[in-house]
Amino acid sequence: MNTFKIALYPGDGIGVDVTGAAEAVLRAAEERIGGFKLEFERFDWGVDFHEKHGRVMPEDFLETLRPFDAIFLGAVGWPDRLPDHVTLEPLIKLRQAFDLYACVRPARTFPGVPAPLASAEEIDLVVVRENSEGEYVNNGGRFQIGQPGEVSLQTAIHTRAGIERILRFGFDLAMKRRKRLTMITKSNAQRFSFVLWDEILEELRAEFPDVEADKQHVDASAMNFVRRPASFDVVVASNLFGDILSDLSGAVTGSLGLTPSANLNPSRKYPSLFEPVHGSAPDIAGCGVANPAAAVLSGAMMLEWLGETRAAEAIRTAVQECLAAGESTGDVGGDLSTAAATEAIVRRIR
Ligand code: NAD
Ligand code: IPM
Ligand code: MN
Repeated sequence: MNTFKIALYPGDGIGVDVTGAAEAVLRAAEERIGGFKLEFERFDWGVDFHEKHGRVMPEDFLETLRPFDAIFLGAVGWPDRLPDHVTLEPLIKLRQAFDLYACVRPARTFPGVPAPLASAEEIDLVVVRENSEGEYVNNGGRFQIGQPGEVSLQTAIHTRAGIERILRFGFDLAMKRRKRLTMITKSNAQRFSFVLWDEILEELRAEFPDVEADKQHVDASAMNFVRRPASFDVVVASNLFGDILSDLSGAVTGSLGLTPSANLNPSRKYPSLFEPVHGSAPDIAGCGVANPAAAVLSGAMMLEWLGETRAAEAIRTAVQECLAAGESTGDVGGDLSTAAATEAIVRRIR
């Protein structure tokens, strides 16, 4: 029997509701599929914690999380209560300190979910987001703050090693899927960093002759995510472009409430982090209407990563069946509350 220690970090807003949903579904899979045991430990960090302690999480949070087998996050942030760059700084630090360089964000259409696009094509893509460097490096500063001559500087860092490993990750994933890879850059304007991405793609292409690899500038890809989303299989992008395109992938497949993610350390030196792509949604926090599916499917990604493939599959099947039966929340055309939609998924786990 495998036992896994899971750090639960519900966070703020709907993060708390969807983490509760994921926990309930994971527990059902543990009981009914079996073969593994989950030991959860919960950390109530975030905006409330900041109001009491003056920090979003304790200073030693990295050491606290290090011994776990995986970390499960709801969502963090409540911009009316605390500036986002304060609340979200530890999350970015966590992704970088634990070298969670591969952020995997699958998005697909589901039978039973109304198609937002008139074309109603079946979509099944994965955004592979570089998650350790690029535009998210804390590199810059502000000078003469508040003065007329104020200057701010924020410089992205793209390394050969960082680009190469995320492209290899994307190619390997494409080999297990439909063997298509699209690399997203803006190398027509950003002539240093993204030209390096272009060059490395050309270097790697020969190693993966079975993968049809092409590239698009991010502006064109934004259009193509709407115009012909079915043409994408594996999409590899820098940190910021991957962030933007993964929200868009949720929107074109039916709802951001359906899109899960994994922040992986492929060497397994550090625990990986699983979370929905969506945020804490203060606009619907406390209303009991958040779609739990993205968090629940992130739980399935976590089990898959931990080697519990059968349980992961059982969760994905249960979510799919619920969506097909209309047992879902308002964002995807249903009329269930978060709790009732979660209960429906739990009932179908077998
Ligand atoms: P958001 O993803 O929270 O919400 C965007 C829109 O989608 C909102 O209208 C919301 O109601 C809707 N939505 C999101 N998740 C949903 C769900 N599960 N079910 C139904 N509807 C859902 O993005 P935002 O409003 O731009 O950001 C809110 C806060 O979350 C900010 O503080 C932001 O920085 C933070 N954020 C955190 C994370 C994270 O913790 N990883 C990710 C994204 C945003
Ligand atoms: C995400 C979020 C975060 C990001 C924010 C909240 C820092 O949008 O996980 O997609 O940009 O990575
Ligand atoms: Mn995002």
